Amino acid sequence: MNEAIAYLLEEHRAARRVLDTARRALAPFDPVRLKRALLFLKYMMDRVHHAEEEDGLFAALLEHASGSDRTQVEEMMAQHGKGHAHLKTAEHLLGEVEAGSETAGAALAGAVADYVDFTLRHMRFEEQAVFPLAERVLPGSQAAQLLEQFARTRALLISARDYQLYLDFAQDPGRVETMVAGPAPQPPEDAATRVIQSGRILHTTGAHRTVLFAQPHKGGATLNHYLVIDGPSGILIHPGSRAHHPQLKAGVQQHLENGRLDYLFTTGVDLDPAGLSSWLMDTDADLLTAASELPSLLGLESERCHPVPEEGGILALGRSDLAILPAPFLPDPRGHQLYDPLSKTLYTGELASTSHGPAQLSDGLGEHAAVIKEEHQRRVPSQAAVQAWLRMVRGLDVRIVAPRRGPIYLGEGVVAELWALLEATPGGADRLRERLELPTRPFAPGAKPNAG
Ligand SMILES: [Fe+2]
Ligand SMILES: [Fe+2]
Repeated sequence: MNEAIAYLLEEHRAARRVLDTARRALAPFDPVRLKRALLFLKYMMDRVHHAEEEDGLFAALLEHASGSDRTQVEEMMAQHGKGHAHLKTAEHLLGEVEAGSETAGAALAGAVADYVDFTLRHMRFEEQAVFPLAERVLPGSQAAQLLEQFARTRALLISARDYQLYLDFAQDPGRVETMVAGPAPQPPEDAATRVIQSGRILHTTGAHRTVLFAQPHKGGATLNHYLVIDGPSGILIHPGSRAHHPQLKAGVQQHLENGRLDYLFTTGVDLDPAGLSSWLMDTDADLLTAASELPSLLGLESERCHPVPEEGGILALGRSDLAILPAPFLPDPRGHQLYDPLSKTLYTGELASTSHGPAQLSDGLGEHAAVIKEEHQRRVPSQAAVQAWLRMVRGLDVRIVAPRRGPIYLGEGVVAELWALLEATPGGADRLRERLELPTRPFAPGAKPNAG
């Protein structure tokens, strides 16, 4: 176990140096250095290090520990969320100071100090209680497995180059002149298989878990598959194509362990029948889809294909209930979405999907807003469909928006931002009057030999 703990301790050491840099950058005030320090803490600690702990070490501990040991691990995961909130506040206040606010300075100093103290306490507790717990309850042979899991998580969240840049910055905050504004995760090409197989745990409460399998495409697009597990039961949202079936199946099986895949769920009717056939052949799962014509068209086993009613319904998974929501014309006329009240996740299918941008977890729309808007206008027919849907989903407590393609949005703030963006964006049919014109340019799709 020592090697896996040593790896996490090394990241703690880097974080301590940068926390110290952040504190020193307050007096005398050095906004550039403070900004770089906050970037490091946001991407290296808040994103990569916490994900490594949650997907790797904590997940392993939750399987082996019980009673108060287990509570400690759950408390550490909850603290990751609290640290994230402290960091967001500090970042926001730094933005205000940079924009010329004269009053935000004192609040910024307080917020940075709070975040630094909180994170130092968190790491100390891990080092004094959680890491020794791991030494005690996890078999030594699991260290190699954990190191592999850390590498898979890292590959999903940050490029090797950016990871090194951040470590260099932690080593010497004065020497590194240019630091990236944020990591652009570019998994190496041969990493696609590893990434899709490893999965990334988005949420855990007791025996209820959500795992993301992100499938990178050339050009930076990403297809997202989600596995929701409750006790011994699982549902796979977006079963995907035949080409990636073996890798995805291996990942799903790994996370299900001895559990079973009960359902395959599709949010729309744009499906890869060969991919679905593979799932039906390789597992006992039932297919839930609005595409009721699929079995007869493709000779699939119809008794295992269940047409989802237009109005949706409540689906039992293990001991939990998932809500299948009607989502017509978003953009699929027969589309559905899935809401998981335990993880507060809304699986939106094609809505809010983007065809460029890796499957990163994002707590702000930022540069994604323009892409979402552009694709939304092109694909969703009408604002009326969005408004009717919003009236329904605003009654739900949503903290994670999980689309079929592109980034996944985390937190109440970004969800509100996203709903407002969708509400304000006209659909394709709404804009017809300004777009439709008689054609004037030739369309010549390749010359054909003259007949006769
Ligand atoms: Fe931690
Ligand atoms: Fe840690």
